[in-house]
Amino acid sequence: MTDSLVQLESEILSRPWFYHFQLPSGRVTECYLPAGVEQIHTTRERMLLETLTAHLGSDWQALRCLDLACHEGYFSFSVARQGCAEVVGIDARPEHIESANLLRRAFNLSNVRFQVGDIQRLDAADLGQFDVTLLFGILYHLENPIGVLRLCHALTKRVCLIETQIAPHLAGPTDWGSHLFTQQILGCFAIVDETDNLARDDKEANITPISLFPSLPALLWLLTKVGFKRAQVIEPPPDAYEQFRSGKRVIVAAYNTL
Ligand SMILES: C[S@@+](CC[C@H](N)C(=O)[O-])C[C@H]1O[C@@H](n2cnc3c(N)ncnc32)[C@H](O)[C@@H]1O
Repeated sequence: MTDSLVQLESEILSRPWFYHFQLPSGRVTECYLPAGVEQIHTTRERMLLETLTAHLGSDWQALRCLDLACHEGYFSFSVARQGCAEVVGIDARPEHIESANLLRRAFNLSNVRFQVGDIQRLDAADLGQFDVTLLFGILYHLENPIGVLRLCHALTKRVCLIETQIAPHLAGPTDWGSHLFTQQILGCFAIVDETDNLARDDKEANITPISLFPSLPALLWLLTKVGFKRAQVIEPPPDAYEQFRSGKRVIVAAYNTL
């Protein structure tokens, strides 16, 4: 290892991170999540790589991938290491993008770049299309989730993977203007107030207090309604992190090809 890499690694290792990152020396960053919860990342990475490999084959070299709300770049690095032509990670918090860039230097990966941005304000035309779009751990931190699903549809050439908490489901008939008329509720959204998370500077939170997230039937319906050709829940492995086994959290693949 060069002196500058040794120095870079000691800077990275001097504080805890949201993920365990294995650095070129083999040393691993400390993760600030409570013990056991960090397994969420390994389950997600495994499901991500298995799903993409099954769908796209092993020819990663031709792929352009976008990681929306990339945080410190964990999933951007996962796909970049597979050899993608280009990976772009975007996050609203400049400190995460700074951290991701620090790691990018340590990993010496030239096929990944990071930029600051609010994904609710992105213009698809500025970014072009990506074979793979990742929307991990963010749909339930947004006040405009439908707008972001529309953005994902516009940005995705082949497949978008959405990893999210899901709301309890509500469906059935509802009165519509009069008891004489009814409409069918297909699914629902839940509201979470992130005011306290913002006050304590929770770096994983929404950037505004209002978070709105759909039930699973609502999400699946919305994905086809915004234009994806089909959407499918990815089966978690038997030893998956508990949230996936209980179905409170899911990965859904939304395809833009048949
Ligand atoms: C729970 S973390 C998930 C990070 C990563 N995608 C993952 O799944 O591990 C949520 C991330 O979304 C970012 N974020 C929140 N609101 C955002 C927005 N409107 N646009 C872009 N990033 C946002 C946060 O800064 C944080 O990095």
